[in-house]
Amino acid sequence: MPITIIVGAQWGDEGKGRVTDLLAAEADIVARYSGGDNAGHTVTVGSEIFKLHLVPSGIVQPGTVGVMGAGMVINPKKLLAEIDGLAERGLDVSPDRLKLSAAAHLILPSHLALDGASEEALGAGAIGTTRRGIGPAYTDRAARAGVRGGDMLADDFAQRVYQAVEAKNRVLVEIYGREPLDAEGIADEYEGYARRLRPYVADVSREVHQVLRAGGRVLAEGAQGTLLDVSHGTYPFVTSSSPIAGGVLTGLGVGPKEVDRVIGVTKAFQTRVGEGPMPTELTGSVGQALRGTGANLWDEYGTTTGRPRRCGWLDLVLLRYAVRINGLTDLVITKLDVLTGLDPLRVCVAYRYQGQEWDDLPFGPNALAESEPVYAELAGWTKDITGAREEADLPPAARGYLDLIEERAGVPIFFASVGPEREQAVHLAP
Ligand code: GDP
Ligand code: IMO
Ligand code: MG
Repeated sequence: MPITIIVGAQWGDEGKGRVTDLLAAEADIVARYSGGDNAGHTVTVGSEIFKLHLVPSGIVQPGTVGVMGAGMVINPKKLLAEIDGLAERGLDVSPDRLKLSAAAHLILPSHLALDGASEEALGAGAIGTTRRGIGPAYTDRAARAGVRGGDMLADDFAQRVYQAVEAKNRVLVEIYGREPLDAEGIADEYEGYARRLRPYVADVSREVHQVLRAGGRVLAEGAQGTLLDVSHGTYPFVTSSSPIAGGVLTGLGVGPKEVDRVIGVTKAFQTRVGEGPMPTELTGSVGQALRGTGANLWDEYGTTTGRPRRCGWLDLVLLRYAVRINGLTDLVITKLDVLTGLDPLRVCVAYRYQGQEWDDLPFGPNALAESEPVYAELAGWTKDITGAREEADLPPAARGYLDLIEERAGVPIFFASVGPEREQAVHLAP
């Protein structure tokens, strides 16, 4: 059985955790392949709400094994806190059910310090990172100076941590004028984390291959989103990893022939957290209506940092781009219910850039920042759709909205989500 990929089609927070949880009912392995605890994935099952950052969302479904692949960066302190929190809530997160790739990189306190120092030094030009040390950890990976999950198995692990922190102390002191970190104390602390995490360290690529060869199903759970990809996203306002479908291959250690389905998750509108261009951003009352007040679980405030998310109309130019970059085979539309009561609705169907109209991403140094959205206007609906389960339960205007997305994206919608709960999904006829 092949791999199904779930990938964010926007700037993150599309509802990947919620979609992963639903599809994980049929999966043997659920695998995170990129990012770290910059991700915040929410799963709602009845009165239970799980906010996952490193452990794959599929762990909530009892029949799965969760794996954290080579493409990830892991803060061991955060991972242990997450494991303990899930265990307290009765989930089996023993090493039989949760595996960490030996090739995943470890985030050290020096990465967190550098993330903060670099953002502060950038001032108005800051990226708006989650300050979880993500960029500096991937920088060390590329520089071949990182400490990896597998290093926790080595006798001299503490020494490796000590040396890595000391190397960054020079940068912190000499470049950023900061106080040096206590490398010895950190090495001791990390030795303690390693003692607990060692049993989780595994050859994740082999685990995935064994399940595939035995006819099992693997679900690859994307973090972040297509537009945050370090190469194909809105650079430099991106993360430092490859959250796109291509990242699954390197992030898990599998070949392209293993993948047969790539599901892009998109909200029914656009959001972004952090800096960078966003052509359909709405700063007035409609943007506020999309964001919500924070009273609901799903209102647009970051799961990881609590920052208010920037909101705007759905951008189909960017969605088509995500279809292309990931080779999407189908789409899941989330938060359709949030549009209830907004009338009229607008959808960006093209950009105006340098006097021309573009239905694909324009090419140029500041193309996205200089693009003006061209909108199609659609009728809204007022009927509460949170109880809809079949296409016929949706008002005609909601179906019209989905039809337009499907037509412009050029791939079918698998289901539309109308609430955060597992069963709040409207499966659409193929
Ligand atoms: P992720 O990072 O892609 O997993 O998404 P987040 O969990 O950060 O943010 C999505 C938020 O929307 C969470 O609070 C979900 O519970 C919520 N959510 C997901 N799908 C729906 C939906 O269809 N309707 C509503 N109202 N909320 C949803
Ligand atoms: P999930 O998986 C939304 C954004 C940050 C910032 C940029 C770089 O929950 O969808 P980083 O800390 O990665 O160096 O920050 O990327 N970002 C996210 N935005 N959802 C996420 O994850 C994100 N992970 C990173 O806000 O703009
Ligand atoms: Mg999130």
